[in-house]
Amino acid sequence: MYNSMKRSSWYENTVFYEIYVPSFCDGNGDGTGDLKGVISRIPYLRRLGISGIWLTPFYPSPRVDNGYDISDYRDVDPAFGTLADFDMLLQKAHQAGIRVILDMVLNHTSDHHPWFRESRSSAHSPYRDYYLWEKEIPCNWESFFDGNAWEYDDTAGMYYYHAFSKKQVCLNWSCLQVRRECAEILRFWLDRGVDGFRLDVINFLKTDRSAFGFDNPVENGVMRHIYDKNQKGIYDAIKEISNVVHAYPGKYLLGEIGEDDLYLIKSYVGEGLLDSAFQFNLGSMEKLDVAYVAEQLRRMEAEGVYPTLFFSSHDMRRHFNRLCGKDLVKAELLAVFLLTAKGIPFLYQGEEIPMEDLPVESPRDLRDIQGRYGYEKKLAEGEGEEAAFLYARERSRDYARGMVDWEREKYEDSLVCAYRKLLDIRKSHLSLCMGEYGEIRQQGGLLYYQRIWEKEKIGVYLCFGEGSLTVPYTDVLYEVKDEKGRIRGILRYEQESSWCGAYSLEPSSSE
Ligand code: GLC
Repeated sequence: MYNSMKRSSWYENTVFYEIYVPSFCDGNGDGTGDLKGVISRIPYLRRLGISGIWLTPFYPSPRVDNGYDISDYRDVDPAFGTLADFDMLLQKAHQAGIRVILDMVLNHTSDHHPWFRESRSSAHSPYRDYYLWEKEIPCNWESFFDGNAWEYDDTAGMYYYHAFSKKQVCLNWSCLQVRRECAEILRFWLDRGVDGFRLDVINFLKTDRSAFGFDNPVENGVMRHIYDKNQKGIYDAIKEISNVVHAYPGKYLLGEIGEDDLYLIKSYVGEGLLDSAFQFNLGSMEKLDVAYVAEQLRRMEAEGVYPTLFFSSHDMRRHFNRLCGKDLVKAELLAVFLLTAKGIPFLYQGEEIPMEDLPVESPRDLRDIQGRYGYEKKLAEGEGEEAAFLYARERSRDYARGMVDWEREKYEDSLVCAYRKLLDIRKSHLSLCMGEYGEIRQQGGLLYYQRIWEKEKIGVYLCFGEGSLTVPYTDVLYEVKDEKGRIRGILRYEQESSWCGAYSLEPSSSE
């Protein structure tokens, strides 16, 4: 079980901000985001009060999957800038007290990567074993993006394996040389001074070729991905990565574990493994369900998981649309939650102003590979255009990837002041960063928890439902009011729990 003593690592007291580089800020006027754009926003990020950024891939890439298909791990794509820009970014961020972690995709490379070109060129190439080649398709595994996971390559005269698009070729992690190369790539960026990594789909590493002997079960036409992830040998591979990274003191290793099972997620975190992992069980919930949130908080407590807190990312719809239905009060309440519940917050670019989902209204708006493939697949199966589009729209991840409109910062409905104030309160109250939970309660649309650190006890009351709060209005650090002036959220110093009578369906006396 994590205890307060353990939470002395910087990352456990950091508020991260995800920067999806292609759409964060345009620094050279070409209409898309780049590293100069990121540099230009560092003063803003500093004033906002975040203390870490997660940069999504900016490496050279054909950008079939927006950079998650890397063709050179040691450089910057010219569309995003240069290595000198990167060094400048790191220096400026550090000067502003902001740490920087990089997205690192070690599961697969682009098919344009020189390793793959070499690998396919000859059976005798020293790179042949870098990827997973088979003479015949060995099992029924499907890729997550585009159908069969086995692609025939004319040059090699064999099939190669890809868990994502066929342009994202999976590396063979049972090959010693692949592991050595990946270690060198990590060192390259660590030597430049980065503070850690977010490891992309890290439990998908192919560490056990014998798993090809097993078909995945298919239920109601949907494949259950059993044998193509969490393979035998995965923990050893992650230990090796961890050894490389943690040989540099104070570096942070965060994993994207594509699982909902908390027990499994937790198994990747600990001494010699990852420092933390995303918990999608809470972060990707489809509807705002307060009982579910309370249940997940309790489960993470019971499992001894130190949570990551987020509701948005480049892979899901923005929570302003998805969970809040564009209701500003709910968005502010969720901001309070993200910045006061136990765990490491990961804000997504633009949620503070608040950006809305990009409209995806016609097949032309489908840019994401997952959406585009879904559309083509349905058309090929004989579906009409509309049905194909509706199917594809569900799968597309374009929604949260629109250019951030920085003009919104000045809008009246911007939440940026709320985020700033909450980040400020968090900084000056150890219970909100390091505290244990006291009570966690939920009743209808009301969520209540206490954070406790030594003598400091803070109560957080969040009323997502129709009622309003009737908590004694003393020692209040922060409040959320709705458009009628009713109190919907309170952060206050707690003497004892004021839960009883905290919630009322009547208008509160403050009205
Ligand atoms: C991760 C990334 C996602 C990408 C996938 C394949 O899930 O977040 O954007 O498409 O990995 O690399």
